[in-house]
Amino acid sequence: MTTSTTPATTDDPSQSALLQAARGQRPRHTPVWFMRQAGRSLPEYRELRQGTNMLESCATPDLVTEITLQPVRRHGVDAAILFSDIVVPLKAVGVDLDIVAGVGPVVAEPFATRADLDRLPDLTPEHVPYITEAVGALVAALGPTPLIGFSGAPFTLASYLVEGGPSKNHQRTKAMMHGDPELWRALCDRLAQIAATFLQVQIDAGASMVQLFDSWVGALPRTDYLRFVEPHSRAVLESVGDQVPRIHFGVGTGELLADMAAAGADVIGVDYRLSLTDAVARTDGKYAVQGNLDPALLFAPWPVIEGRVREIVQEGRAAPGHIFNLGHGVLPDTDPTVLTRVVELVHSLG
Ligand code: CP3
Repeated sequence: MTTSTTPATTDDPSQSALLQAARGQRPRHTPVWFMRQAGRSLPEYRELRQGTNMLESCATPDLVTEITLQPVRRHGVDAAILFSDIVVPLKAVGVDLDIVAGVGPVVAEPFATRADLDRLPDLTPEHVPYITEAVGALVAALGPTPLIGFSGAPFTLASYLVEGGPSKNHQRTKAMMHGDPELWRALCDRLAQIAATFLQVQIDAGASMVQLFDSWVGALPRTDYLRFVEPHSRAVLESVGDQVPRIHFGVGTGELLADMAAAGADVIGVDYRLSLTDAVARTDGKYAVQGNLDPALLFAPWPVIEGRVREIVQEGRAAPGHIFNLGHGVLPDTDPTVLTRVVELVHSLG
C-alpha cells in the first residue's frame, strides 16, 4: 500500500482565476464569462436544440452537459454556467408552465390567492435528479474550470408566477406586494425555500460558485426592496453561507446595489447602466464586482468594443476583485467570434 498524498491542485477549480477574484484576490488575469454564454448565439447550440423544447432540454443531462461545455470550448471563458433556467425548479415541483421561444416563461394559471400556494410545494433534491446528474458530469468534464450554479431570486420568480409571463410593469406583482403583504410574504418564503434548495443541489453536486439572479428587481424603489424583497433574498444567500462564493445580480439595480451586496453577496453583479467605478463607490469598495459590458455594444465596430473592454478592466482594478462579464445576457444575434475576441482581449490585459 502506498501512503496517499494529495495530488497537485492543477485540477482544482478553487485555485482558478474566477474563484480568486471572487475571494478578493488578484489572479494572473481578469476572469471572464458571459451571462447566457450558452444559447442561441452559438450555431452548435441551435443545432443540438433542434427538435427538443427548452424545458425538455433542461431535464436531459447529456444535453445540459454538452450545451454547458460548448461556450467553454469555443471561447475559452474562465467559467461554465449550468445550462438550465430560473423556472426549472418551479416546473419540477409541478407548476404548469412552459418556456416559449422568443417570449420566455409562461405560467398557465397565474398566482393570485392564498389557495394558489398549494400549487407550490417545497423543492427536494428528488424533484431534480437531472440537475445532480448534469452537474456531476460537468464537474468531471471541466477539470480546473469552475462551474457556476444559479437560481432565480424570490422576487423575479414571483413576478413570473403572478404576472403569468414576462412583464414590463410588474403591476400584478406590485399590487399583491402592497395589497396583500401577508400573501406576498408567504409566496416569497416558499420561493426562497425552492431557490435555496435548488442552489444546494448544485453545490452538493460540485458547483464552485453560485449566482442569484434577481433580474427584474430593478423595477422597485429602495424602500419596497428592503421591506418586501431583501429578507427573502437574504435567506437564500445566507443558506449558501460560505460554502461557495455568491454573486447577486439584477438589471437596472444601481439604486439597490449596496443593499443587494449587503444581503449576503461576495460579488455584486453590475448591469451596463452603472459604471464599475460607481458600483465600487456605492458598495464602499467592500465587494468584488462582476460586469459590465453592454451586450448591445457587441454589435458595434471592434475598436469601440476594445475601448470599452479596456476601460472596464481598468475600472475593475479599483474593486477587491473583478470578474469580467456583460451587463446582461448575450443577445441571440451576437456574432460569437466577437465574444471569443473579447475573452482574448481581457486575458491579454492581465
Ligand atoms: O448560459 C447561461 O447563462 C445559462 C443558462 C440560462 C438560461 N436562462 C438559459 C435560457 C440562465 C442562467 C437563465 C436564467 C434566466 N431565465 C433568467 C435570469 C437571467 C436574465 O436573463 O436575467 C431569466 C429572467 C430567465 C427567464 C427566461 N428564460 C427568459 C427571459 C428567456 C428568454 C426567452 C427568449 O426566447 O428570448 C428564457 C429562455 C431561455 N433560457 C433560453 C435560454 C438559452 C432561450 C431558449 C431557447 O434557446 O429557445
